[in-house]
Parts: sequence; structure tokens; C-alpha cells
Amino acid sequence: PEAKLWGGRFKGGIDPLMEAYNESIHYDRVLYAEDLDGSIAFARANVKTGRLTEEEFVQIMGGLLRIKVEWDTNNFRIAKGDEDIHTANERRLGEIIGTHIAGKLHTGRSRNEQIATDMRLWLVKRLRELEGHLAAFLQVIADRAETEISVVMPGYTHLQRAQPIRWAHWLLAYGSQFASDLERLREVRSRVNRSPLGFGALAGNPFGIDRAAMAKELGFEGLLPNSMAGVADRDFVVETMQWGMMLMTHMSRMAEDLIIYSTSEFGFVQLSDGYSTGSSLMPQKKNPDSLELLRGKAGRAFGHLAGLTMSVKGIPSTYNKDLQESLEPMFDHVKTVTDSILIATGVVNTLAINPERMRAALSPDMLATDLAEYLVRKGVPFRETHHISGRVVALAEEEGRPMDQLSLEELRSVDTRFGEDVHSVFDYTRSVEQRTSAGGTSEKAVREQIEMLRALIKSE
Ligand code: ARG
Repeated sequence: PEAKLWGGRFKGGIDPLMEAYNESIHYDRVLYAEDLDGSIAFARANVKTGRLTEEEFVQIMGGLLRIKVEWDTNNFRIAKGDEDIHTANERRLGEIIGTHIAGKLHTGRSRNEQIATDMRLWLVKRLRELEGHLAAFLQVIADRAETEISVVMPGYTHLQRAQPIRWAHWLLAYGSQFASDLERLREVRSRVNRSPLGFGALAGNPFGIDRAAMAKELGFEGLLPNSMAGVADRDFVVETMQWGMMLMTHMSRMAEDLIIYSTSEFGFVQLSDGYSTGSSLMPQKKNPDSLELLRGKAGRAFGHLAGLTMSVKGIPSTYNKDLQESLEPMFDHVKTVTDSILIATGVVNTLAINPERMRAALSPDMLATDLAEYLVRKGVPFRETHHISGRVVALAEEEGRPMDQLSLEELRSVDTRFGEDVHSVFDYTRSVEQRTSAGGTSEKAVREQIEMLRALIKSE
């Protein structure tokens, strides 16, 4: 049987199922480039510690670069017994440059620091890509909001008609939530971007290795402060998932709105064919599968977050093999969030809106608040105006006519302070233009939100 990297003290062979249960190469192989980069930085730093000669370093680096080419070109052959990406690369290095020199690479090093380094390097790259995708999504939202700023629709609370809003305001409601996600992403990334390399198994490196130099070479922003925590915490994965979970929650709610708005009953929006599917039975169907998957995948993302949090919550200090269970959820989470942002971008970018249906769904009772505010402007206390306006709503219901069809006399029968100008209240555009406070739904306030979103996208 092939010799295990750690086989010195072992006499019996490993149980075959245990071997399969233990291996992670079939998924951690995606970390090959980070693993090789980490090894090169580690080898270079060990020239300074005196553990490697210049010549040995050159040989090791040459071997590692060749392994990288093998992986890049799909020519790396995983051998039986390659437990994980670290052992696979080291085994191959021995084959290429001989085990005498290859065997020096791991001096003072542990796979514990290697895997933590590889994961952080990999994740920082993915978070940079995610930032680009998220910014592009926000760009689509901002552009759409600007183009369609004049469209007015019902705003809902409790899914009941509440007050008129601009369609752009609805877009920016999600825009502002995803904007917070973008800010959080930048913060999370800077915490992920710290180096554990040089920590050894748990206690530190005995040969005076220059951690700062290695971190700089690898592009880390800084160093983790404690070797025991650094080899063993997976906070950076959990935090990334918490971030992604929040984002997926926003996705899910946005999807839910659009699913409702795309029903025949609402008809506010129509999904493009590219993001819909049909029914195998009912020829007329066009189903919003993209939106349903955005909503459904939020559950999957939450599942991974909950699962990993459970895996890490009870383990004792420093490295335990439980930590290997952080890899698959991390990969799946990043893929889920990345794909979801791209799909949502496509959906929002290609959605058709139906402003007539939106307008038709507005009803004069949605201006009851405006009617109360009309009296407030005449000096009547709001509690009183709320009551008066409520009685107008009731009167309209009794009369079987919309509120704006009541005559001035009828309105005056409820309260004599209604004047000639009261009918100006029954105008949806006027209503949204009343909401001028920052973050409100008036045109000016919406334009300010668009500018803020654009500034955030551009920052950093
Ligand atoms: N494959 C392992 C992981 O992903 C690498 C670290 C192994 N360390 C150890 N002491 N067995 O966690």
C-alpha cells in the first residue's frame, strides 16, 4: 500500500471506507492554485530562515509551477491515497524533483495552516467577483429606476393597497437593501483577507518565518493575530454565509413580489421568455421558475449556514477534522449566491412592465391619507382628520361610488372644512409628489436615491 504522509507511527492499514470518508480531494482540488501559491511563498520564506538553499528553492518552485500547469491543463493525475489537495501536490512534487528536496518543503508547516490559507485566498477572489456582479445588478436597478421614473403603482402593506408609489421607488427599495449587502460584502472581505500562514499546526513556526513577507507575496491585507485561532476558526466562512444569507433573503422577497406582480390577476410585470419555463401539460402556462428558484435557493443557503454553524459550535480548541466540513458548504454557497445574482440581474434587466395595469390597480381610497393630510394643512389635528377621512371612505362605500366621485356637498356633509380645492387631492401623481422627504417617493427624492446608489457602486 502507498505510504501515507503521516504514516510513520502506523502499523495497520486504513479501512477502505474510512479512507473514502476521510478524503476531500474530490472537492478541495479546486484550491490547487492557492495551495501551490501558498507553498511557493512558504518555500521562499524558508530561504530566509535558512531551511532551504537558493538552489533548493528554485527546484521546489519549478516543480510547483509545473504542477500548476498540470492542473491548469487537466493533466494532473490524482493518485490513490491522495487524501486532499495538500498531500496530492506534495506527492507530485516528490515525483518531479525527488523526495529528498520535496521533503523539505513542509518544514515547520502544517496542513492546518495550509487549508486555512488556501480557503481564505480562494474566498477573497470569489468575493471580489461577487462584488463585481452585485455592482452590475445595482447598476441595472439604478438605470431602470431612472428610465421608468414616471410610472406610478400601488404600494402595499399587508399586501393590501396602501399608498401610491413610483415603480422606481419599488426598484430602489430592493436596490437599497442590496446596497447594504454590497457594503457588508466589502467589510467581510477585508476580514477574510488576512493570513494564517506561518502558524504551524497550532503553536507557531519555530524557525522565525517572516509571516508578513509571505502574506504580502500572497496579496493578503494583513495577518491574523493568533496561531491557535488562525488555524482553526472558520468564522470567515460563517460570516460570508451570513452575508450571503442576508442577500438571499432580499432576493427571496424581491422574487416573491415579482411572482405576485406577474400573475394574471396583477399583471404589473411580465417575465421575459429567457427566465421563464412552460408546463409539460398546460400549453398556456408561462411559469416564473427563475423567481421561484431565487426564493427556493434562499432556503438552501440558509441550510448551509445553519449546518456549518452546528458543525463548528461544539468543537474544542484548534484543528479538528470537523473543520473539513466547512469546504463543501462554502463552495456551494458561493456558487448559489453568484448564480442567483446573475439570474436576478437578467430577470430585472429583461422584465417588461405594464404601466396601464399598475395605474388601473390604483384606487381613490388609496388617497384617503392624502385627504386627511388636506385637512391637516388647514390646521385640523391629524387624529381628527384620520377619522373624518375614514368617514368619507365609509360614505363612498355606502354610496357605491369611488371617493373621488363624491360631490363637494357630500364631502361637506362629513366635514364643513372641505373646500373647493379638495378635488385636487384625487390625483395619484400629486400624491407621490407630496412625499418629498429624503428617501421618499417624489421624483426628486427618487432621483437622489439613484444618485446615492450610483455613488456607492463607484466607491472603492
Ligand atoms: N483536508 C484537511 C481539511 O480540509 C486539511 C487539514 C488536515 N489537517 C489535519 N490535521 N488532518 O481540513
